[in-house]
Amino acid sequence: MLTGKVAIITGAGTGIGKEVAKLFGKNHASVVLNYRSSEKQANEVKEEIEKMGSKAITVKADISNYDDCKNLVQTTVKEFGHVDILINNSGMGLTRDTILDITNEEYHRLMTINVDGTYYMTTLVLEQMEKQKTGGSIVSISSSAVAQPSSGNGVYAMSKAAIELLMRSVAQNHGEHGIRCNIVAPGPTETNMVNEYFSEEKRKRVTKEIPLRRFGDPKETAQAVLFFASDMSSYVTGQKIHVDGGRTIR
Ligand SMILES: NC(=O)c1ccc[n+]([C@@H]2O[C@H](COP(=O)([O-])OP(=O)(O)OC[C@H]3O[C@@H](n4cnc5c(N)ncnc54)[C@H](OP(=O)(O)O)[C@@H]3O)[C@@H](O)[C@H]2O)c1
Repeated sequence: MLTGKVAIITGAGTGIGKEVAKLFGKNHASVVLNYRSSEKQANEVKEEIEKMGSKAITVKADISNYDDCKNLVQTTVKEFGHVDILINNSGMGLTRDTILDITNEEYHRLMTINVDGTYYMTTLVLEQMEKQKTGGSIVSISSSAVAQPSSGNGVYAMSKAAIELLMRSVAQNHGEHGIRCNIVAPGPTETNMVNEYFSEEKRKRVTKEIPLRRFGDPKETAQAVLFFASDMSSYVTGQKIHVDGGRTIR
């Protein structure tokens, strides 16, 4: 489904990003695996993709740093000549009992990664796509927290809402150049992030709120990302899919 396409995936060494990278490799994309600290894992994903017969490189970048983002995009163009797909997957989670338990330092750290980082990557790739004049697809990983905010996840939900709005505005303004922007909003999904924020008790309570009665597998999120990244969604832009077992039905 992605033959001839070059895809940058942020945070591709772990969790959802890792499964997206492997699925893209399986679908014959050339994959640029960004990592910040998970170098070993990113290299393992690279090897797996190469075994599938697709090309992959790893690039270290802290997406909250503009120069790192610039280098990530420039390295991609130098290596592969173009960028067709961007997956804004990297993100920081933050859940406390209430918003009053969140420090200003935590607030700023989260916003620089989730909002600034997504903004930097989106604008840099958009600029490159506009130059190429061959269209493109940008997909950002949001969260079901936008549809179901609570005081404790308010800062996280706010950052993801900002990402959604950025995607919709870019979709509105760059569609005429064949550039599509869409959003995948996972519910609780079995990755490090969930393990960090869900106690056994919370896990049991939340599972009862999910119509499918289980947490998601990151492979299931990756399938929705592939839909938006590929021509399967060629007439879809500015839209969101919840991959949450139905938790946001009500
Ligand atoms: N799991 C869930 O239940 C869930 C639900 C809704 C939304 N999400 C979203 O899904 C996305 C992926 O999270 P995940 O669940 O797969 O958890 P994860 O395994 O903890 O992945 C987070 C990824 O973000 C990367 N990252 C964080 N800060 C970064 C930075 N400054 N620069 C570059 N990369 C950075 C990490 O890279 P390194 O490891 O290399 O540092 C890591 O690969 C996030 O945006 C998250 O908000 C997750």
